[in-house]
Amino acid sequence: QPKYEYIVVSRPEPSVVLVTLNRPKALNALSSPLFEELNEALEQADRDDSVGAMVLTGSEKAFAAGADIKEMKDKQFADAYKNKFLEDWGNLSRLRKPLIAAVSGFALGGGCELALMCDIILASPTAKFGQPEINLAVTPGGGGSQRLVHAIGKSRTMEMVLTGRMVSAQEASDWGMVSRVVGEGEAEVVKEAVKMAKGISEKSQIAVQACKEVVNAAHELNLAEGLRFERRIFHGLFATNDQKEGMAAFAEKRKPNFTHS
Ligand code: CAA
Repeated sequence: QPKYEYIVVSRPEPSVVLVTLNRPKALNALSSPLFEELNEALEQADRDDSVGAMVLTGSEKAFAAGADIKEMKDKQFADAYKNKFLEDWGNLSRLRKPLIAAVSGFALGGGCELALMCDIILASPTAKFGQPEINLAVTPGGGGSQRLVHAIGKSRTMEMVLTGRMVSAQEASDWGMVSRVVGEGEAEVVKEAVKMAKGISEKSQIAVQACKEVVNAAHELNLAEGLRFERRIFHGLFATNDQKEGMAAFAEKRKPNFTHS
């Protein structure tokens, strides 16, 4: 009896957890039960000392086609407000370990926003990104209007949000929204993401978490505060065994053996 109904969780490498959205009939529309499972699986991986990084993917046809429109369509303001509709989506951005999105096919609305909540996005050439909420007479609700501005700037964000136009993988790459376009389809982009996650898992996990924390701070702090924060975290790492090991290994021309301490 699998634990989850809408996702599949696997271990393609001992140190990597792969979460595959699995609601094919609805193109992985992000219903509330799906998101609960996703949060649970990722939070569990985040707590597991044997895991260094996570990969999130969908199917060849769709990473995710958005929030579940059929679930939302009759929602009233009072219910949405009182029950903080979509607020738990933000749990995902509080993970300490890196989360890599491997995107193939449609990443629309909440699907695009879900990818943007990940730390790195790899896209297959078939990936299509869009914020089509305008066609449903709403705004993005999963952070797209804010995260896109940071990722691609105001004019391109306005174009996506006001016209609902889908952007190709190549365009998203040219705009800096994704890190790069890889392979020819879903299987290859996942393989590349798992390889990247495995590589990250081999680093000092303390340094990996610290790097994620300082990069994310750039979204929230002004430059002076951000630079101070980065330097404090950098100073703090001189208290770790991994820093001693990493620098000693370099000087001794050998591979480091990190103990994550
Ligand atoms: N919610 C619920 N069901 C969805 C869905 C969604 N977001 N997207 C697709 N589906 C369902 C379809 O209703 C259809 O179900 P049935 O077979 O029961 O009719 C099934 O998935 C397959 O979809 P299509 O037949 O439409 O497939 P297609 O290949 O013809 O078109 C598509 C693909 C262009 C992605 C089209 O499905 C589409 O436009 N989907 C909606 C995209 C969208 O508007 N997303 C934004 C949602 S709002 C949001 O996300 C708010 C937010 O900011 C958090």
